Amino acid sequence: MIDLNASGAGLDGYALLAAQVQALFADERDFTANAAQFSAFVYHQIEDLNWAGFYINRDEQLVLGPFQGQVACVRIPFGKGVCGTAAATRQTQRVEDVHAFAGHIACDSASNSELVIPLIKEGRLVGVLDLDSPTVGRFSEADQAGLEQLAAIFLQLTDC
Ligand code: SME
Repeated sequence: MIDLNASGAGLDGYALLAAQVQALFADERDFTANAAQFSAFVYHQIEDLNWAGFYINRDEQLVLGPFQGQVACVRIPFGKGVCGTAAATRQTQRVEDVHAFAGHIACDSASNSELVIPLIKEGRLVGVLDLDSPTVGRFSEADQAGLEQLAAIFLQLTDC
């Protein structure tokens, strides 16, 4: 696991993760393969997560895609829950305490905070990247910026 607060010479934190994600996708552009790899990579490299994965846009509904973690709800309408809000607004949702978010959909009772990043390619909403943590307030502004950068690399290097 990478120390995201590390400092010193060379790449560290999210810069190192970004370089690793670029290497991970260097020879493959398939959506399912890259989404599966990406969710496994994020889940294992970023501390204190209990769920990491994708919901895919299928006709204005989010449908479960590749993920790591407990089994989850399969379909989320746009506008519902944290994921559906990210999809409808096309804005990242960084939720300090999911129990204070009206309409939050509890898939895993261990989740206490959540970060959902809309995945937009050439103006199309491909889906969302959803990360859950058992720790309230797990995701900082720096985490949001770092994970948005990783998601952008995924979109750039993947056919979708
Ligand atoms: N909590 C999400 C649902 C998906 S799970 O967290 C995997 C939501 O409110 O949209």
